[in-house]
Amino acid sequence: MDLVRETKINNLKALEQKAKACTNCGLRAGCRGVVFGEGNLNSPVMFVGEGPGQTEDELGRPFVGKAGQLLDKILLAAELPRETVYITNIVKCRPPGNRTPNMQEMQTCLPWLRQQFTVMRPRFMVLLGLAASHGIIDPNLKMGPNHGQWFERGNTLIMPTYHPAAILRNPSLRKPAWEDFQKISRAVKEWAH
Ligand code: URA
Repeated sequence: MDLVRETKINNLKALEQKAKACTNCGLRAGCRGVVFGEGNLNSPVMFVGEGPGQTEDELGRPFVGKAGQLLDKILLAAELPRETVYITNIVKCRPPGNRTPNMQEMQTCLPWLRQQFTVMRPRFMVLLGLAASHGIIDPNLKMGPNHGQWFERGNTLIMPTYHPAAILRNPSLRKPAWEDFQKISRAVKEWAH
């Protein structure tokens, strides 16, 4: 294994250990454990969801419930199979009853994402849903007009798109979401050339 990859793995493992001991907000008291994130640390793309749901909390892995199964299918169809990308959430602990994390919880948890980002330095970040988009781009962002757009932040391109759970609830979002994922796929392929 090359040294850069080994260093990344070790740094991220150390970070995960620290995150697992985090009690910086009230969410940790109401969940089983911290769901840190998983995937390919060398991927140019990091996906960021809202927060663990019940299945994620039980299994300690992001996006493994119903929404996660849809995400897996979309990723595969976009030729970005799950195991080739990195997946995490804006909050690492399950909010009670799967409510949306509030701004304060997201801000309190954000340093973990920032440190994950610093280790990985992905070229692209895809924000799944409004919560992550509000926490990372702009609290007033609207998904309708802004999904599928790249926002440039330093060396990273950030795209908000629909959350897979929203697509499950509202099938009319399938087409625009799929167009966004095709755009992401094209960008990743161009970047790799
Ligand atoms: N929804 C999310 O936003 N994240 C998960 O990990 C699972 C469902």
